[in-house]
Amino acid sequence: MIQQEKIDEIRQRANIVTIISDYLSMKRRGSNYVGLCPFHSENTPSFTVSEDKQIFYCFGCHAKGGVFAFLMMHENLSFPEAVKSVAERVGIEVEDHKRGYKGGGIFEILYKANAIATDYFHSRLLESGGERAREYLKERGVDRTVAEEFRLGYGPPSWDGLAGFLAKRGFPLDMAFRAGLLNKRDGGGYYDRFRERVIFPIFDTRGRPIAFGGRAMDGKEPKYLNSPDSPLFKKGETLYNLHNARQYISKEGYVLVVEGYFDLITLYRYGFKHTVATMGTALTVSNIRRLKGYAKEVYMLFDADDAGRKAVSRMLPIFLEESAQARVVFIPRGMDPDDFLKREGAEALAGIIGEAEPLMDFFLKDLKDLSDLSTARGKIEYLETVAPYLGSMSNMVERDHYAEIVAAMAGVGVDIVYATLKKGQTGAGKNVPLPSETIVMKNYDRVEEKILHILFSFPHLFNEQVKEAVSSFKSAMMRDIGLAVIDILESGGSTPDFTFLLDSGLDEGAKKWIAMALVKEDGAIREAPEKILEDCCRKVVSSGRLGEGTMKLIRQLEMAGKFHEAEEIRAGAESYIGRTCLPRYDRRG
Ligand code: CTP
Ligand code: MN
Repeated sequence: MIQQEKIDEIRQRANIVTIISDYLSMKRRGSNYVGLCPFHSENTPSFTVSEDKQIFYCFGCHAKGGVFAFLMMHENLSFPEAVKSVAERVGIEVEDHKRGYKGGGIFEILYKANAIATDYFHSRLLESGGERAREYLKERGVDRTVAEEFRLGYGPPSWDGLAGFLAKRGFPLDMAFRAGLLNKRDGGGYYDRFRERVIFPIFDTRGRPIAFGGRAMDGKEPKYLNSPDSPLFKKGETLYNLHNARQYISKEGYVLVVEGYFDLITLYRYGFKHTVATMGTALTVSNIRRLKGYAKEVYMLFDADDAGRKAVSRMLPIFLEESAQARVVFIPRGMDPDDFLKREGAEALAGIIGEAEPLMDFFLKDLKDLSDLSTARGKIEYLETVAPYLGSMSNMVERDHYAEIVAAMAGVGVDIVYATLKKGQTGAGKNVPLPSETIVMKNYDRVEEKILHILFSFPHLFNEQVKEAVSSFKSAMMRDIGLAVIDILESGGSTPDFTFLLDSGLDEGAKKWIAMALVKEDGAIREAPEKILEDCCRKVVSSGRLGEGTMKLIRQLEMAGKFHEAEEIRAGAESYIGRTCLPRYDRRG
């Protein structure tokens, strides 16, 4: 348990903008920051962070919250883990019952284990005993400067080199085991996982080592051994060298993606610094979302062989679904980027990067080559194969562009392409892509919204008239929110903190509205908040009292014994103002 005051102190010390900037690139817009939302797929930024209010809100998927919520969602942390992670960044020590190595929480301990191991491996490479590994790296073109830049290392053949090194420092070995540095011995105890290998430390976006890759030097299997997944490291979510490449990616506007450590280092050596590597796998959705935060376009470097071509068709749906722009760079003659650069040089690589085709264009051409478009059957098959890809394009301009290309390739009219597309989408079992979240915000009474909006930005304008207006809001949700806002305003303080509402018992729909309203900028309000507030309140109150004339009418009808008509009008009026405020006619009287 972390004490509440501690949590508040950490929240106050942290700046949500600085912390979120570790994970995505954002631009200032007015008093907010905006970027591409990491929680859903989008092309125009709707993820908004308010520095004043210290919250984020996505206008697209309605993800929302404060700094802790961001880390919980983005890094998959529990609440205490998120609090600790922020505490560490702002330099506040957190006391925890589960005290470990020098009082740190589990995350700190695992980071520490990896930091010690990075130093250990790096020293083994540079010192005597590391000759063979240095020789190996040299053969692969990696000199001392590059080895230092990437903090490369060497795991010696010893079974207890790292284990002993950690033990001597009083580091708990069970924690080094959890970090994936040691293996468990059958008979109890631990031994080194990375033996007789060149070591590539893998850093998170903040430059802390979270895992290692180890390359065997003598043809031993497996060729590469990686750290297992741990609380710090998720293989499918990690991109090697991202922390270092970020600045170059933002500058170039696109990112190069390779599959291996050596490919990456060689590209870097030849000046392609805007490069990241997957962990030997295809790009994952998580990878793509993360890259979209920095780059407009992703260039994937593939072998020009069959495997590379297959990878392209596997990747295509993911990119389309994420609305991410991608191009393919085919490295000729079965070479990997490492071989290619060494043989052909930087200019040759720049050349093929410059000719890289969009993923979809490549796919369409490749498929065309495999199809027999001279027959009706062949055309139908081609169109039916292509249709789902076109269907998952959310951008109409893009879809139309490709529909034309497909039509030309198949030698049919574009109307036929659209007809195939439609048929495919209504057919059973076909996935019609839906927006990731289909919460549609209802059109709440603008006047009520405006009142709360003004209170959020100008709380000192609160007065009795406002209070009366809020308590007669027609929308139950706005009324609940309004009353909670009044609670905060009445409990005093010159700078009321409305972000508490996001942790309150209000329902999710209400919290979404609040987060949105807190980050939304309304220039019109700013010009004359007091006047607008007054007008809005008057409107709300008078519409609440609209019953007076109606009431008279109802009375008269009731007096005349026309109870059915009276009840109808009453029901209509009550549903209009959203509550029962018309006094019932006392029939006995
Ligand atoms: N990889 C892995 N485990 C393996 C093999 C490969 O994790 N057993 C990952 C590594 O990240 C490696 C990448 O896949 O860098 C690409 O592997 P591969 O193409 O086999 O090797 P290269 O990168 O060409 O490695 P090298 O040049 O060292 O042979
Ligand atoms: Mn290679």
